[in-house]
Amino acid sequence: MSNVGPLAEYTSRIKRVIITQEEIDAAIRKAAKDIDAAYVGRPLLLVSILKGAFIFMADLCRAVSIPCEIGFMAAKSYYEGTESSGNVTITLDLAQDISKYHVIIVEDIIDTGRTLNDIIKMLKARNPLSLKVLTLLDKPSRRLVDLKADVSLFTIPDLFVIGYGLDCGELYRSLPYVAEYDEKGE
Ligand code: IMP
Ligand code: MG
Repeated sequence: MSNVGPLAEYTSRIKRVIITQEEIDAAIRKAAKDIDAAYVGRPLLLVSILKGAFIFMADLCRAVSIPCEIGFMAAKSYYEGTESSGNVTITLDLAQDISKYHVIIVEDIIDTGRTLNDIIKMLKARNPLSLKVLTLLDKPSRRLVDLKADVSLFTIPDLFVIGYGLDCGELYRSLPYVAEYDEKGE
């Protein structure tokens, strides 16, 4: 019988760090500078999709120097093998009328792209002044819909990753870096 306790089990599944805290910080500082330059003098709303993007949003909005508002959405997707869209249910919606804002969706990771694709359609129908997508991570090899982020800070291979907001079974969101998840553990 294994004598591995819960903490050792938790730690053993953090296989290797893929993106360090320093690399994330540097990429966010650059993205924030670009936002400052592009949106100065315009009504800006940063929208993130809970829960995965909450840490990215917190760091990004503090690196942005120009005035901006923050909004959160939460969505549930029902796909089960179908590629059709319109399968997203919004469980938390924005308080703002986005027709008055330039909107940037701040996302943690784009995988198949289906959830975000539906959210983009929904938000476009509300006529924002403009709509862009900024994602921390992108797994383009997994894409099932035609969706490209306007800005992607890191492109990663087809690995399951955890940390910096991303979870596995609701754990690991609090890691300050992005790591590969070890399915087997030790
Ligand atoms: P999709 O692009 O509609 O397939 O879904 C993207 C969502 O799936 C993300 O917002 C994450 O919540 C989750 N997700 C996708 N890949 C990963 C991963 O490698 N680790 C953790 N969550 C992931
Ligand atoms: Mg997400």
